[in-house]
Amino acid sequence: ELRDNTVIVVFGASGDLARKKTYPALFGLFRRDFLPQGVHIVGYARTKMADEEYYKRITSYIKNPNDDPTVNEQLEQFKRICSYVSGGYEDDESFQNLNKYLESIESKYERGHRNRLFYLALPPSVFTPVAKAIKRNAYISHDGIVRIVVEKPFGKDLASCRDLLGSLKQDWAENETYRIDHYLGKEMVKNLLALRFANIALGAAWDKNSISNIQITFKEPFGTEGRGGYFDEFGIIRDILQNHLLQVLSILAMERPVSFSAEDIRDEKVKVLRAIPPVEVEDALLGQYTAANGKPGYLDDDTVPRHSVCPTYAALTLWVHNPRWEGVPFILKAGKALNEAKVEIRIQFKDVTQGIFKDIPRNELVIRIQPNETVYLKLNTKTPGLKFRTVPVELDLTYKKRFSETYIPEAYEALILDAIKGDHSNFVRDDELEAAWKIFTPLLHLIDGVGGQRPSLVRYPYGSRGPKELDAFTAKYGYKRTESG
Ligand code: BG6
Repeated sequence: ELRDNTVIVVFGASGDLARKKTYPALFGLFRRDFLPQGVHIVGYARTKMADEEYYKRITSYIKNPNDDPTVNEQLEQFKRICSYVSGGYEDDESFQNLNKYLESIESKYERGHRNRLFYLALPPSVFTPVAKAIKRNAYISHDGIVRIVVEKPFGKDLASCRDLLGSLKQDWAENETYRIDHYLGKEMVKNLLALRFANIALGAAWDKNSISNIQITFKEPFGTEGRGGYFDEFGIIRDILQNHLLQVLSILAMERPVSFSAEDIRDEKVKVLRAIPPVEVEDALLGQYTAANGKPGYLDDDTVPRHSVCPTYAALTLWVHNPRWEGVPFILKAGKALNEAKVEIRIQFKDVTQGIFKDIPRNELVIRIQPNETVYLKLNTKTPGLKFRTVPVELDLTYKKRFSETYIPEAYEALILDAIKGDHSNFVRDDELEAAWKIFTPLLHLIDGVGGQRPSLVRYPYGSRGPKELDAFTAKYGYKRTESG
């Protein structure tokens, strides 16, 4: 349900996330008329700035390449529902001031009818104090609904995640809390439920009897580029695998939920996560990029400590111990500074029974999450003609062709709207987070040099496919690379 009279407060309004993602998404929803009636957006941060400066910042990432006058007009209208308040992140006075400001907006609403959505686009250090200060000073207890939206990182390992969850829970109920993993808002990730459970043909082949191995791959063509301060503390496993790729895995591997309700879906996701034991060092390939082709290596980034052993690439193989997946490797791979931008799922089926066909390529179902959303199935077909030969071909569902007129929402647009509507399906539940951290914590501790021997780290050049050891790594798990793939 879309609640009218909602005020959205964006904490960290002048920060990276707010400028790059939150405000463009809010504007995207606004211009398509998806925001509730009477909505107001209040930016909040420490920096004192005039409204003009604030507008400049929040619109700096909103694209209007052709200077479309309609978009310009919509931007002007958007500014009218946006305003800014500056204040501290820890002191009650600042939050009381914010509360008064919110009340002044709400006084124009009908009585008994107001809602607040607090969006924390904040660094982890101020995350808990802000959540607590909101609760003390800007919470409405009887005449409206309050929700809090939070972003990763949710801790650095199982223990710190538990601490964070615990301190948030003292003030915020689970149904008021929306933990974003923006991969859950991506169109193709949402499509997994349809592909799997609305197609008997795919559903029937979705297990260890038919599938040899599954890869979930994230590739980015740029390095840390000044964001090394944040990155070095976390590394690629915490940045991408523990959250984005594992979320994709859980939807890919879970059993069919009883319904589409948020709890039914998340119950199944947690079950499958709990069937995955911690990653072993033997199942890990870790890398760090070096300078190449005029591009700086990871250690050349001024914001990165000189001898950092932080992985910027990781391929980790996970095993799901349940009857459906026993023995099927799930290879999660993610890297910065690679040769291309691509996120995809590649499901490789087993060889056909030998006998009449020998050495023909395996079937593969590839679901490309981005860019250019596509689902394709690699099949063998007979080459037309008098001779009997087979050729690998693709059954191809490229969204741009099949759904050429349809607007595909940005992940953040979809998720912010879900939070306004109160739909938790695409947000991360507390027990999912714990289960996720359990899988990675022992390996992360070894990488951080806590107990045991540090796993080795290989180097790969900026702009390459990744470490040269990669092909041998995936082959070890039965993946057969075909020429075209
Ligand atoms: C973020 C990571 O969560 O996801 C970034 O912190 C990464 O390092 C980003 O670049 C990728 O998101 P997307 O939507 O561009 O694939």
